[in-house]
Amino acid sequence: MTDAFDFARYLASKRTVDDRALNRHVWQTLADAVAGALPPDRPLRVLEVGAGIGTMVERVVEWGLFSDSSYEVAYTAIDSEEGNIEAARRRLAHLISSKEAGLQVRLQTADLYAFAARRENRQRFDLIIAHALLDLLHLPTALPILLQMARPAGLFYFSINFDGATLFLPEVDPALDSRIEALYHHSMDTRITDGQPSGDSRTGRRLFHALRACGAEVLAAGSSDWVVHALDGAYPHDEAYFLSCILHFVESTLRGHPELDAGEFGEWLATRRRQVARGELMYVAHQLDYCGRVGGVEGPQH
Ligand SMILES: C[S@@+](CC[C@H](N)C(=O)[O-])C[C@H]1O[C@@H](n2cnc3c(N)ncnc32)[C@H](O)[C@@H]1O
Repeated sequence: MTDAFDFARYLASKRTVDDRALNRHVWQTLADAVAGALPPDRPLRVLEVGAGIGTMVERVVEWGLFSDSSYEVAYTAIDSEEGNIEAARRRLAHLISSKEAGLQVRLQTADLYAFAARRENRQRFDLIIAHALLDLLHLPTALPILLQMARPAGLFYFSINFDGATLFLPEVDPALDSRIEALYHHSMDTRITDGQPSGDSRTGRRLFHALRACGAEVLAAGSSDWVVHALDGAYPHDEAYFLSCILHFVESTLRGHPELDAGEFGEWLATRRRQVARGELMYVAHQLDYCGRVGGVEGPQH
């Protein structure tokens, strides 16, 4: 890529792509469910896991997820990378200090598994959010752990779950395009992080039954595909950078792969980068959003 890879900038550039992609039916169902499940005598407790630089916190404010200002929201956002939490602290400084619309934001560097293992976080939260995260984890391990942090009958919102289609258009060479896509997806399916399997290129479709197997009820599901293309020859916002990051991910994952000819792959990447520079590349990634309720009987909320 021409600019050095900067993860925080990647997440910032992803914000507008996600904004277009998020499924509005799922979002509205979540907003209605939140409004119908407010604890009577304490703030609504929200946990966002893998919050990155805090773009979902901005979104819930701007899109009015907690639009009834008569109640308080205690929003805890965790991420395992300290650099992301530091970036979130800078990005959200205005929200943190102003306690915008009754929103109290707490940012914390923490690994999901360590955070969930703490006894006080068990069945603690009214809403658990994971955005663009679950496809990076081992779902059978992570899902029950995430859900057990919700109180009985508490809510979850799991958005931007990748689901097995990556399209770079126009086609360069259909056979090579397909091979690169298949190898890229295969790398997600076989990825090992800290010695554990992590990631699944079909997370989106698998989530529905995985949630039910955990005793959770899906209230709404819908697609949230990323669709990126230029307008009048230029990509909006910082989306040319977003595309260069996607190509960087493909390159760093597949460089040296024994089933790819290095020269052919290098030429493919150069062609795709020229397409980005000229505003010709269209990129589509298929994803699914879900919201729902965990199992258990609603009781007094403390
Ligand atoms: C693709 S990024 C998405 C970030 C943010 N949700 C967004 O969409 O802008 C995934 C994030 O999850 C974090 N993450 C990955 N594994 C984690 C874990 N086990 N515990 C906490 N955070 C984790 C990463 O550090 C990264 O910031």
